[in-house]
Amino acid sequence: MSGQLIEELIRLSAAARENSYSPYSDFKVGAALLANSGKIYTGCNFENASFGAGVCAERVALGSALAAGERSFEAICVCGERVITPCGICRQSLAEFGDMDVICCAPGGERKIYRLSALLPEAFELKE
Ligand code: THU
Repeated sequence: MSGQLIEELIRLSAAARENSYSPYSDFKVGAALLANSGKIYTGCNFENASFGAGVCAERVALGSALAAGERSFEAICVCGERVITPCGICRQSLAEFGDMDVICCAPGGERKIYRLSALLPEAFELKE
């Protein structure tokens, strides 16, 4: 993936983070998911008074991409107030669609890049 594309994903995830609805944790997260089609889908976390109803930024972006018909992905970028890695449920949700780069960044631009398979080795698969 080009450096320019990485910078674009960081910019879009930081912008999506601004829309986070997180009054309970006060922890804003944004995500930008690059599909193999070349299109980018964004998401932010949203929370609820019924705490279990909240959803992470990564799965909001994934749901948006799936609803548009996407099924394969090159990379996801997640932006927290500091560099964070996706939670376990998000790792599993993304692993459903194969391996991809995971760019973990902060709004200032610092970042670490992983492969999803390194963050979730031996992921559960229903089919052999
Ligand atoms: N959160 C995300 O959106 N993505 C992550 O990778 C980790 C956690 C959200 C969930 C919750 O709204 C808040 O951050 C604090 O856990």
